[in-house]
Amino acid sequence: MKFAILTGGGDCPGMNAFIRAVVRSALNLRPATSVWGVIDGWQGLLDSNFRRLTKRDTAGIAHAGGTILGTLRLPELKDNIDMQEAMALNLHDNFFDYLFVIGGNGSLAAANVVNNFIKEKNLNTKILVTSGSIDNDVCNNYGFSNGFYSAIDKSLEMLEWIRDTASAHRRVYLIASMGRDTAYLAFYAGIATGAEYVIRPREEVDWEKLVNLISERDRDTRIIVAEGYEKSIIEIRNILFEIFSKRNIKHEIRTVDMGYFQRGGKAAVKDILQCSWLGYSMVKEAYNNCDSGFYATFSVGHPPAVLTLDFAADSSKSNHADLPDDIIEFALALR
Ligand code: F6P
Repeated sequence: MKFAILTGGGDCPGMNAFIRAVVRSALNLRPATSVWGVIDGWQGLLDSNFRRLTKRDTAGIAHAGGTILGTLRLPELKDNIDMQEAMALNLHDNFFDYLFVIGGNGSLAAANVVNNFIKEKNLNTKILVTSGSIDNDVCNNYGFSNGFYSAIDKSLEMLEWIRDTASAHRRVYLIASMGRDTAYLAFYAGIATGAEYVIRPREEVDWEKLVNLISERDRDTRIIVAEGYEKSIIEIRNILFEIFSKRNIKHEIRTVDMGYFQRGGKAAVKDILQCSWLGYSMVKEAYNNCDSGFYATFSVGHPPAVLTLDFAADSSKSNHADLPDDIIEFALALR
């Protein structure tokens, strides 16, 4: 058999563990297989930029952040049928039996359209996809995205560092978090560190109430602002500052952005093991001639749930953008 591996969208910890697991399981279970990396994600598939991978290429990478294969953003792919067709033909013409993809919701959508073209034209390659995103916005009705826990670990560490200074100086910190349109990363990191407040996308914030909360605090206040919220941390600082001035509140306000630091660095053990298990399970399924599909994140040792790509890519069925109410109640109960 001939396999290709593609890492798409934003890089995230766990991608390298997935690459390693696919390469090693494939070559150990059936040494006659050849495994190729697609260089630079979907752009590499468009350019037929492939590199053959050996077990040695994947030595010592399971814990490392980023992706050894690279991933370039290709936003135009979504609406460009010529590109989608070219990718499907490149897979077929290079005799790939399976393409293994780990990536965000854009990659899932891309995999689905390329797969539909393959089916329509009766081409040979099948596409197996799993999530890789710190945003936890890929098919999240079926488990947390790979990479999400690693990003919480990084965020927790940064939030604890900020607590030290916030507490020493009796300051309010407005802390921006990545996470695109969802508040998952900001919110779960907030729960883990015990932040005073997390501002979510689409939330109608009662600024006076928030200031009440701040003014009741003696030393540190950390307010995390999720990326998808309509106002920047600077705009929020200005709003709070105005109310502080009116009410003669003396706390200083500072801003900091956790941003790309949340995405890089060592993978959490959960992500390493989960991505390794998924890579291994997907290779075994490929050797059983499985159809294309999305592999949801389930615990190591349990068979992953497999969804059709059409269903998985339909976020109205497989995903929810807003935090469930019981998670919000849980966080409030711990405050
Ligand atoms: O999707 C992951 C993510 O890190 C988001 O949280 C963020 O909005 C985006 O990627 C940033 O992407 P880029 O690296 O292209 O700036």
